[in-house]
Amino acid sequence: MKSASRAHELSPEEQAIYRSLNPERMPAHIAIIMDGNGRWAGRRSLKRFLGHQQGAESVQYVVETASRIDLPWLTLYAFSLENNLKRPKTEVNFLMRLLRSYLINNVQRMNDNNVRIAYIGRTHELPAEVQEQMQQAAEATARNTGTVLTLALNYGARSEIIDAFAALARERAAKHRTKDHPMEHITEADLHRHLYTAHMPDPDLVIRTSGEMRISNFLLWQIAYSEIFVTERFWPDFRGLHLLEAIAEYQRRERRYGGLKTHTDEEIPEQAGVLVSR
Ligand code: FPP
Repeated sequence: MKSASRAHELSPEEQAIYRSLNPERMPAHIAIIMDGNGRWAGRRSLKRFLGHQQGAESVQYVVETASRIDLPWLTLYAFSLENNLKRPKTEVNFLMRLLRSYLINNVQRMNDNNVRIAYIGRTHELPAEVQEQMQQAAEATARNTGTVLTLALNYGARSEIIDAFAALARERAAKHRTKDHPMEHITEADLHRHLYTAHMPDPDLVIRTSGEMRISNFLLWQIAYSEIFVTERFWPDFRGLHLLEAIAEYQRRERRYGGLKTHTDEEIPEQAGVLVSR
């Protein structure tokens, strides 16, 4: 189902920003580090779990705005390997319950919005009942052709790279059974092929909420040339409007991928010295 534009479904405030965007320079993939649930709750003297609960509401708002503007790929860092290992068991258990109920309660809305759900991370280590619900949601939305919502769950970028190397080593070993050095001549494309995200374009834009200037082991390989947008806003206060504001900021950036804005063929005289500090 390739739908007509759904921009008219945006709120008037969202439409005002959306109309100011350059349709030629829309990002294809936005990845978000959803941070600040705990601080949002703390500011209101609420328990942390209420911040996570409110954060799950934000997820749905943002997903629906993304689908209305036809964003092809939206990836959300919902639960890291480090969250799993380092947070109190009670909080981890609550996050698992929240994820499960989010999936149960939102499949219909995902279908109404033509959103397909997918996952990255060591998801096989999650509780069986969560994996079951994940699979059901993926199957129920598999035929949707709009935004692909990828939830990073039990995800860590270093582990992803290790997993990719291990998969590549297995592939090479199977191919070169008798050779001594099956891991020679590895290219970026070889590793890329085995990343969890092999089928996706790299993120154009990474958004982090709640002001911290770090990447926290998220998509390290894939964000080599992504634009990064950090907002002070806590995730439970983040809405589609703020997604559109981040896209507007992204469009003001100049992406160079290590090159130059305009090609200058400036002449550099042979005798131009290289300064050596004494
Ligand atoms: C960071 O806030 C957020 C998380 C560790 C989990 C993200 C989870 C959600 C947004 C809700 C559930 C998600 C889905 C997809 C249903 P924090 O606890 O680190 O906040 P703090 O840094 O202020 O303590």
